[in-house]
Amino acid sequence: MTEQTLSIIKPDGVKKRLSGKIISIFEENGFEIKAVKKVHLTKKQAEGFYYIHKERPFFNSLVAFMTEGPVIPMVLSCENAILKNRDIMGATNPKDAKDGTIRKMFAESIERNVVHGSDSIESAKFEISYFFNVFEIL
Ligand code: CMP
Repeated sequence: MTEQTLSIIKPDGVKKRLSGKIISIFEENGFEIKAVKKVHLTKKQAEGFYYIHKERPFFNSLVAFMTEGPVIPMVLSCENAILKNRDIMGATNPKDAKDGTIRKMFAESIERNVVHGSDSIESAKFEISYFFNVFEIL
């Protein structure tokens, strides 16, 4: 089934000028970019996006990281987009990520891990609508 997922190139990926490489990886793997923008999140916006993690010990540090520079959220579409994106990204912690995955190639740590991807249909719906309205998604 064709699905949509939200991907974000995080501040570390943007700062290291990895955006083009990461977008190429998605395109080479069959994803279509349905929407894309570049935004510098405020603290409130980052807290709202990650509200599900608000009780976690790493929450404040995660919000500080996600607001340190611009990010590039994208709506990606293909068959099984949510799972496929997670495979291509690799494990959250780059130490556990398989060779050839984005995080294995480019991530520094479990926090500075270059990309975000929705982890379920419900989170994809919430996350896509957090960044894009219907007129912005092709
Ligand atoms: P992401 O896929 O964006 O979802 C939540 C983020 O929290 C995750 O990627 C990491 O960047 C971060 N994260 C998850 N677990 C930890 C942890 N144990 N320590 C620090 N950051 C974490």
